[in-house]
Amino acid sequence: MHQLTGYVDRWSARAGERIRFMISSVEDRPYSLRFVRHLCADPNPDGPGYREIAMPTRLDGSRAGKFQAARPGSYGRIDALALTAPGGLRLAATIWPTLPSLGRQVVMGIDVAGVAIRLEISSHGGAALSVDTHRVEISASMLARRWYGIAATIDTANGTLLIEQKPLQPVGAIVDGGRQALRVKLPTIAGTGRVFIAAALHGNTAEAHYNGKIEQPRIAALDGIRLAEWDFSKGIATQRIVDIGPQSAHGLLVNLPTRAMTGSNWSGAIHDWKSAPEQYGAIHFHNDDMGECGWSESFALDVPNDWPSGFYAAHLSNGAGEDYIPFFVRPARGARKADVAFLVPTFSYQVYSSFVRPGRGAEIRERALSWGALLETPDLNPQFGLSTYNSHADGSGVAITSMLRPQLDTRPRQMSLMDPAPKGSGTGRINCDSYVIDWLDRAGIAHDVLTDHDLHEEGLAALEPYRVLICAQHPEYHSLRMMEALEQFLRRGGRLMYLGGNGFYWRAEPSIDAPHALEVRRAEGGIRVWATEVGESYHQFGGVYGGLWRRIGKPAHGLVGNGFSTQGRHLGFPYNFTEGIRDPRVRFMTAGIENAAAPGAVFGDSGVMGGGAAGFELDSADPRYGTPPNALVVAKGVVIHDDFRWVNEDMLIHRHPRPQEEWSCADMVFFETPAGGAVFSAGSMTYVGALPPDGYGNVCAKLTMNVVRRFMDPTPFA
Ligand SMILES: [Fe+2]
Repeated sequence: MHQLTGYVDRWSARAGERIRFMISSVEDRPYSLRFVRHLCADPNPDGPGYREIAMPTRLDGSRAGKFQAARPGSYGRIDALALTAPGGLRLAATIWPTLPSLGRQVVMGIDVAGVAIRLEISSHGGAALSVDTHRVEISASMLARRWYGIAATIDTANGTLLIEQKPLQPVGAIVDGGRQALRVKLPTIAGTGRVFIAAALHGNTAEAHYNGKIEQPRIAALDGIRLAEWDFSKGIATQRIVDIGPQSAHGLLVNLPTRAMTGSNWSGAIHDWKSAPEQYGAIHFHNDDMGECGWSESFALDVPNDWPSGFYAAHLSNGAGEDYIPFFVRPARGARKADVAFLVPTFSYQVYSSFVRPGRGAEIRERALSWGALLETPDLNPQFGLSTYNSHADGSGVAITSMLRPQLDTRPRQMSLMDPAPKGSGTGRINCDSYVIDWLDRAGIAHDVLTDHDLHEEGLAALEPYRVLICAQHPEYHSLRMMEALEQFLRRGGRLMYLGGNGFYWRAEPSIDAPHALEVRRAEGGIRVWATEVGESYHQFGGVYGGLWRRIGKPAHGLVGNGFSTQGRHLGFPYNFTEGIRDPRVRFMTAGIENAAAPGAVFGDSGVMGGGAAGFELDSADPRYGTPPNALVVAKGVVIHDDFRWVNEDMLIHRHPRPQEEWSCADMVFFETPAGGAVFSAGSMTYVGALPPDGYGNVCAKLTMNVVRRFMDPTPFA
């Protein structure tokens, strides 16, 4: 377990704004704190050279530590329900368990006047009822992913406990229902109680988390009077659960379970929950859902006015552990802005973060130690939850990701994987995106940074001060507002440089109720490790249709000229110039590299990511998907390699519709936009790794810098 870590309450802040830090130090050990600005965050001694600048503050120095626990597992919580029922109680719910054989899982837990009542799945997989130490259970276990009605009767007047389990989709040959009664002397139930749904209260925390869907949990008095009934089809976009009973005992959801899930009455005819919410009255709970850790604030930074816009981190260390907690600083409101802005892809960072890859921590440990890089990885710290690249323990996909938890694989001074290239860095996210910052800094190009979260919040206004917007190595996830802001920026004559691969691919939308969370529904096509279940392709946050922007109607090709078409291992290959490089429209690209920039000539054949500029995930041009007719392909990085395969959304039959050289490549694209703007797209995820070789003086870096300088020039493109 990580000995010293934490998180921030926001991805970015302007000078003068406050960022709060929540820190956990095991055994309450004190730690030392300092702040740094990163120019190059790559720890590889054979890479471009790690560069951090100390940024002293009055917070620096030794600080008292406090251990704060992370507790995954989602549930619903109702803090007060009047449960006076002289004859007894009846509890019921409709459930779709996904791991009935996992062990004890509580569907509904009530604590009232010192009496603990649990309607649960027993360790044998059947429904069970316990009232304090009295217990009755059904021996027939439930089947996974099928609907059941379960009900418990607590007859205090006659001293009887009864549990019932009824399959709603009976199989015939399999016995998966039953009822069981027990005569026992029972305490009277009277008072105001606390109710947990999908977990039970244990001390001050939740335990025995349930996995699967729950619909219509309800409590009645034995004389038939309804006490509470939670209708999960109400408030689907929120973290509130609505009681339609007489007490209006509404509750809150904890740890972001998944809503807008098909219910037991789903007909199959409706796929958009907004059209028939009553068929979407189920919530899917998981024992590994993680919302916010809920830690208390350890310190807060008011970003000093003289801090330049850029990549920053709070560095924590003591004898037991070390961490860098990243954040991004924007220029103060009203301050003079640079011409160039770098868009930090914090939506993509957050969607990827906490990607548990079993064995990764052990695999990188030796190299990370020798580099002085951070050692902790999500697989070593499952307490912080999962990424949307993981599946839950019950096999369902992780659709929601929170930033209010330590995102251990989204740190500076970190390697992500064992790079197969000699002297390769194996970097991702902040570390490889910092190559662009390092490169601009060394070239003396003034630049600001802003984040995806700023772009979503402010729309076009966030981009308006800038002439040139540089998008990062892997800007894969965007909301509709972000896509529209980028389109508007280009329509107004903005210049966009996309230096990555597999960009502008999936929709991700934030929650209004829980702004720290993003949701991704992996509908229809797309390279993905899980797929949405049938009928569940509409987001709970905002109710929009999920999936690929290409399928929703805003393909990357239309925005930047190329789109995802092939993927393979983390290997990099060179580009070759095409005849397009001779076009007078792109003469500015070849200044100082005239001899190297000849059709057919190779460049980008070295790099700190996979060993070359074209690799890992590649984007090609295709007019059918929206590449503009004036787009010029100036270079191609064709990768014909056993491990590089097509994206499944291109496959209609067992043969790819186009020749392999046309899709298994990165197309370097340039085109002018109507108001004097332009777009340059590299189309490869290892491209930024090809900038550093030769002190950022190689052909790939020179060509790209020529683009930066021309894009900074206000002279309109033809
Ligand atoms: Fe990706």
